[in-house]
Amino acid sequence: MHAPDFTSDLDLLDDEVEKLLDLAAEMKQTPTRYAQALPGKSIALLFEKPSLRTRLTFELAIKQLGGEAVAVDGPIGGREPLKDVARNLDRWVNGIVARTFSQTTVEDLARWSAVPVINALSDRYHPCQALADLLTIREAFGAERGRTLAYTGDGNNVAHSLMLTACRLGMNVRVATPPDYAPSADIAERAQAAARTNGAELLLTASPEEAVRGADVVYTDVWASMGQEAEAETRRRHFQPYQVTAALLKQAAPGAIFLHCLPAHRGEEVTDEVIESTQSRVFDQAENRLHTQKALLLMLLG
Ligand code: CP
Ligand code: NVA
Repeated sequence: MHAPDFTSDLDLLDDEVEKLLDLAAEMKQTPTRYAQALPGKSIALLFEKPSLRTRLTFELAIKQLGGEAVAVDGPIGGREPLKDVARNLDRWVNGIVARTFSQTTVEDLARWSAVPVINALSDRYHPCQALADLLTIREAFGAERGRTLAYTGDGNNVAHSLMLTACRLGMNVRVATPPDYAPSADIAERAQAAARTNGAELLLTASPEEAVRGADVVYTDVWASMGQEAEAETRRRHFQPYQVTAALLKQAAPGAIFLHCLPAHRGEEVTDEVIESTQSRVFDQAENRLHTQKALLLMLLG
């Protein structure tokens, strides 16, 4: 990889994303070929926020490549300066995976440590999730280029990473949010530029119907992310029209799939009927976290 770290989606070049997805597909087919791909490599997992999927799939990915994981929960840099934490860790481990509140924490870890740092979700990005999402879309349709992805709900970390990664792979991306919860303008600009270069279109709208009409993929995420629990009630009011219901999903293309990074709040951003429907691919997505992260670890540390 050209960048030493994966602090955001932008650390991968367009052709590196393609290469990673190809490698992940191959690793998924023939996992035993990679059982000793990272022999004896140690990786630290630092989690400031809860996790089921990311934490377990990183632990398993590292084990399945012949390495070992050590984990620490809680605030990073609470007892001592973050730059000291980073310079301790790089004496013991070959890589750091960090789930943080602030994006600055991930970037400071990368700045101060001599080993690769992977963003396992920050308030601004969830780049590992976007890789698994794109593999899932590729598996469902054979190829993602020219397909249309509609995201409805909060313009959050998951939306940011999806926009950046899907646009650069030539997907048309439509994002529907209430006006006060739109994705960050600078990220929208980057995604817009990537879409243009790749012959795709990015649309930001306040209308979930406009986003979903004729789309191949309908995606949503929680309305209140980790750290926003106090806003949950207000957000529920603002986001109600953005719920993915069977009626909304019907407006998508025939054969459209439903995606959600999980955990899901049934009855809020998605109905139970939709997430349990045959169109839902949410557990394929969860499975693909493992395969894409194995490919990422190999590309960064191999
Ligand atoms: N999708 C996802 O990142 O799940 P966790 O929060 O459980 O890791
Ligand atoms: N947007 C959510 C994603 C959880 C995987 C959050 O940050 O809590």
